[in-house]
Amino acid sequence: MDLALELKAEWRAGGNKPSLRGKTLGMIFQKPSLRTRVSFEMGMRHLGGDAIMLGPHEIGLGVRESVGDVARVLSSYVHGIMARVFDHADVLELAAHSRVPVINGLSDDYHPCQALADILTIRERFGRLDGVKLAFVGDGNNVAASVALACAHFGVSFSIATPEGYEMKAPIRDQAFEVASRNGSGLTMHTRPQVAVADADVVYTDTWVSMGQEAEAAERAGEFDDFQINESLLRCAKPTAIVMHCLPAHRGDEITDDVMDGAQSMIFLQAENRMHAQKAILLRLLG
Ligand code: CP
Ligand code: NVA
Repeated sequence: MDLALELKAEWRAGGNKPSLRGKTLGMIFQKPSLRTRVSFEMGMRHLGGDAIMLGPHEIGLGVRESVGDVARVLSSYVHGIMARVFDHADVLELAAHSRVPVINGLSDDYHPCQALADILTIRERFGRLDGVKLAFVGDGNNVAASVALACAHFGVSFSIATPEGYEMKAPIRDQAFEVASRNGSGLTMHTRPQVAVADADVVYTDTWVSMGQEAEAAERAGEFDDFQINESLLRCAKPTAIVMHCLPAHRGDEITDDVMDGAQSMIFLQAENRMHAQKAILLRLLG
């Protein structure tokens, strides 16, 4: 977090030092992306390095050749691999066979780079993490899982409201509870958004239909109907609360236009911070 803030200030003051000159990041994408793709690529370039985009139709991860073989070969060309995959086991398999660091750029289970950028945003806005309460409303999916784990690690109190059947996966929930109890961070689970959001400093949501779940869109719309972040729900939080969303947003579904574009929204600062947080990750792993 300290390094990310330093790199952000340095970039805003005119540009980053080329600490990653001669280094290349290989970026594997099985799913679409705006933020992850561009923020990693620009992050590498700002630090003097380079990035190669490998889209879903190029390498055929696990189809054209095995995930392990992709990792063995790609890691002999590049200094780091960032991968966005469906099955989380694929990112673990890449890491198991890669000679260079592998960064999870989102899997069906986790989105850790997002969560680190979010912690950066919270720290920037509140000047602290201790005692901050984050309420997540919506799907207990990859983003919720990583935000829960990051909050547990960093001492941010986390409460989540999901419809029944859309809770965080049991092993991830157990891991989050264990980390939270070790660090004295609060963690509670609810089914009523108003209860989770009560007195929150941060109100966070994600799409109701994640990449790969498109066939469930109609069913999910019905299940998540009461889990929209709107002015009425936001009134349950502290008056000083900020609103966060990992994006892409489906305006009018999980979040209303007035909240997304309102004074409490930090959503676009949050998106910018992806790049600053990831530069710190890149420097630590590739520097
Ligand atoms: N939040 C996020 O990861 O956005 P992209 O899917 O556009 O990368
Ligand atoms: N939960 C969403 C996050 C997108 C950044 C998805 O997996 O599609």
